[in-house]
Amino acid sequence: MNCAERLVEIFGSQADVARAFQLDRAVVHHWIKMEYVPARWAGEVERITQGRISALEIINEASAKNPVRVKSRPEHLPFGLPESDPMSQYAPSKRIQSFHPPQRTLMGPGPTEIHPRVLTTMSQPAIGYLDPVFVEMMEELKSLLRYVYQTKNPLTFPLSGPGSVGMEYCFVNMVAPADKVIVCQNGVFGGRMLENVIRCGGTPVLVEDKWGEPVDPQKVEDALKKNKDAAIVAFVHAETSTGCQSDAKTLTQIAHKHGAMVIVDAVTSLAGTPVKVDEWEIDAIYSASQKCLSCTPGLSPVSFSDRVVERVKKRKDKIHSWFMDMNLLFNYWSAGTRTYHHTAPTNSLFALHEALLLIREEGLENAWARATRHHLALKAGLEAMGMKMLVAEKYQLPQMNAVVCPQGVNEAEVRKTLLNEFSIEIGAGLGPLAGKIWRIGLMGYSCRPDNVMLCLSALGSVLSDMGMAVHVGDAEAAAHGAYAQMHVKDAQRKKRAA
Ligand SMILES: Cc1ncc(COP(=O)(O)O)c(C=O)c1O
Repeated sequence: MNCAERLVEIFGSQADVARAFQLDRAVVHHWIKMEYVPARWAGEVERITQGRISALEIINEASAKNPVRVKSRPEHLPFGLPESDPMSQYAPSKRIQSFHPPQRTLMGPGPTEIHPRVLTTMSQPAIGYLDPVFVEMMEELKSLLRYVYQTKNPLTFPLSGPGSVGMEYCFVNMVAPADKVIVCQNGVFGGRMLENVIRCGGTPVLVEDKWGEPVDPQKVEDALKKNKDAAIVAFVHAETSTGCQSDAKTLTQIAHKHGAMVIVDAVTSLAGTPVKVDEWEIDAIYSASQKCLSCTPGLSPVSFSDRVVERVKKRKDKIHSWFMDMNLLFNYWSAGTRTYHHTAPTNSLFALHEALLLIREEGLENAWARATRHHLALKAGLEAMGMKMLVAEKYQLPQMNAVVCPQGVNEAEVRKTLLNEFSIEIGAGLGPLAGKIWRIGLMGYSCRPDNVMLCLSALGSVLSDMGMAVHVGDAEAAAHGAYAQMHVKDAQRKKRAA
């Protein structure tokens, strides 16, 4: 059996081989006809078959059938390294090449697709993190972050690290050993907050709500009445694991009424739905660059009120993380005293500057409205296919849509087919919702009408292929209808205002 035939045996059919290699079926058919797989596919064959067919076998067979006549090619190339090669002890049979990720439509819970302007900015030449030009950009970056957070807090800046670093930074600085913290949990990320309180030596008081429901303000008030010494209330504004939004303004008011400060997780909410730090009097808040800010992952914008800064300064014990100590990092990010703290991820920060500038150009309110518009169209399409949302309408996040998987459908297979055949990524459910929901994101640059229509169309086609009673085309028609209704309403609103 030649290597082309062995591929068919491994994957089941020529069509399955084509799918695995993301090729047209005609190409695979040609391999079968030629009775060999061209040598340039050797590395891919070894990778995709997980070594069941080695690169060397492909090369040997291909060169026997169709000898390579380029005399100058070194003997060990293109695949399989000689023992003398210093890489051979780390990756014996693999020639490591430049990495080129495929083009994907990212409609999961983040990361999102990235605007070409942001990608271009990121690939600009590196400069030093104390270069005066960079320092000037940092000041603009802080102003742009104040704009998206709607705050005048001087201590508003991006931390070097993902959203989890932002979360940890808040707890490490604000929670001293034995401090009592009310932690609200209605999904995965409230659980992470709880873990942070425990690791800081604080005393957590857990307020639990069902996954898919918002944090109940009454339960928080009751907990504060019972725990008069509670110093902090921590909650997730937009629970990414369920697509549910809690009332950050009311929860903050309740905490303040009882003399507690708040730590708010705005990882998924920032720039997708209103977050008004000053108006709502939020004390400490963190987010992440890869959600509605639509930037490269790895940065966590934070903002702290003066009350928080005072609280941290007054701490008698030494903050147990050097890297996270707010007092030290402040000296790098404050305009006057800029000194070395750690090597800032400069090119990622250029990218964040550009991503925020795009939001500024669009207008924050318009970005929120865009998420709502596409959410309504997506929902209309999903409902036309008979699907239901997990969260009650009032609490649905426009940028994170949790859809209940139809009964009898292999949900993992649907996601796999969407990725392999349509190059679309959607998210799975987590924890108790694993296998029960899909999470379809409409965040930042991914939140576009073409993505909504593509996702509906692909999902409809996959579900109908799997035998579900879905009429292909219904979803797209419903989404178009929803867009049309919104256009009419907008036009009427404009007319009235004129
Ligand atoms: C609500 C919420 N908080 C925290 C995090 C952690 O962020 P990161 O993955 O960037 O560390 C996430 C990530 O998805 C999140 O959705």
